[in-house]
Amino acid sequence: MIAPADWNRMAANIQKLLRGEKKGPSEYTGIRKDGSTFPFLIFPAVIVRDEKPVGLRGAIIDLTERKRMEESLRKSNLRLAEAQRIAHIGNWEWDIDSREMYWSDEMYRIAGMPAQSIHGTYEKFLEIVHPEDRETIKETVKRAANKGTKSEIGHRVVRSDGSVREVRQKVEPIYNDAGRIVRVIGIVQDVTEQNSAERELQTARDLLLQSEKLAAIGRLSAGVAHEILNPVNIISMELQILQAMESLSPEVVEELKICMNQIGRIVTITENLKQFSRVPQKKMAMADINNVISHIMILYDTQLKIEGIETEIQYCPDLPKTIMDKEQIGQVIQNLISNAMAAMEGKDKKVLRIALEKETMNEGNDRLKITVADTGTGIKNEHMSKIFDPFFTTKGQGKGTGLGLSISYGIIKDHGGEIWAGNNQWGGATFYIRLPIRNDVDET
Ligand SMILES: Nc1ncnc2c1ncn2[C@@H]1O[C@H](COP(=O)(O)OP(=O)(O)O)[C@@H](O)[C@H]1O
Ligand SMILES: [Mg+2]
Repeated sequence: MIAPADWNRMAANIQKLLRGEKKGPSEYTGIRKDGSTFPFLIFPAVIVRDEKPVGLRGAIIDLTERKRMEESLRKSNLRLAEAQRIAHIGNWEWDIDSREMYWSDEMYRIAGMPAQSIHGTYEKFLEIVHPEDRETIKETVKRAANKGTKSEIGHRVVRSDGSVREVRQKVEPIYNDAGRIVRVIGIVQDVTEQNSAERELQTARDLLLQSEKLAAIGRLSAGVAHEILNPVNIISMELQILQAMESLSPEVVEELKICMNQIGRIVTITENLKQFSRVPQKKMAMADINNVISHIMILYDTQLKIEGIETEIQYCPDLPKTIMDKEQIGQVIQNLISNAMAAMEGKDKKVLRIALEKETMNEGNDRLKITVADTGTGIKNEHMSKIFDPFFTTKGQGKGTGLGLSISYGIIKDHGGEIWAGNNQWGGATFYIRLPIRNDVDET
């Protein structure tokens, strides 16, 4: 009945039992009549006669069923752990009386620790919660423990390496049969990737909306600009006729001059508008962005010196040439530089930093990145989403048209690139441009 492989062990165990060296049950493998095997336990008792052990009797328990249950429990635990790992969902269970806390393996992983590496306690649990969110979590668990409140909250977890994860956490009470709350359980899902994907999607949507809006405004303004320029030209001509008249008093001459100046402004703005809405006559050709920038810097050299602005230009000599309309790209850079100069007016420390970089992406998709940073006023948060809108300006009457950035936006989009802005560590603004590096002339 006993499997041959267990014979020696059994014989040794019997000797030990008779000598009194061993007590308690042993597990062996049994062989059924049909040849199949099964695990069983023997609970032995020594038969003693005249104070001498003369034999053994024992009770046998078939372990087949228990083993099967253990195995299936082990398997479902494994499956649960696997599911948790894949879904980034961890769970914990806090026993209110003993203050013991169980963490599933995935909980440890969410916290950036090897599974079961520390003894889970409520205090340890609070430690991994972002300090700013700790009070909220404490409150939530307390409410579940005291009042039986179920909640779901989003908060942050700080890993031991300092990185921050975003999680969603469900907290619920567990009652015993007497209706008393004995445990609080939590289910924690790491939603960092999900959230950042959502944010990216939102940014993409915003950008799309922005370009749709610009396209619509572009079409509108083309018509408007044309309509305005005609009467303005007539007014301008009439004014010139008036100015040419003799016998005008000096006051009238002065007033006419003001009118002519203002007409000049209308023309500038309208021309700008036309450029903004113009169906671009792109002159696409291979160009080296290093040269585009260095030419512009020569243009601005004197002006920058007069205004006391230091410059730090970081060229990137190994950038390959790429296809662009260098006039237009130059126009964008000039817009950014003149905005930066305006933003630095009156500042003590004025530095204009321009950097060129190559971003290596998966093969054949390299991009070039242009960064223009200043030490000016920076951009207010509430303005961030508007600065690329046409006519958005914070500059005084007669100073800004609010068209520079929206024109730039259109040009960069036309080149298949991206432009965006942020504030920097010097208190100023940084504008980023990313352009695809292409060397194939295709007009699609
Ligand atoms: N470098 C910068 N620093 C701070 N604010 C900026 C900067 N560049 C642009 N802005 C903000 O964006 C607005 C729009 O810029 P732009 O489209 O060039 O129009 P404008 O220069 O005529 O105002 C500016 O009025 C300003 O508020
Ligand atoms: Mg401007």
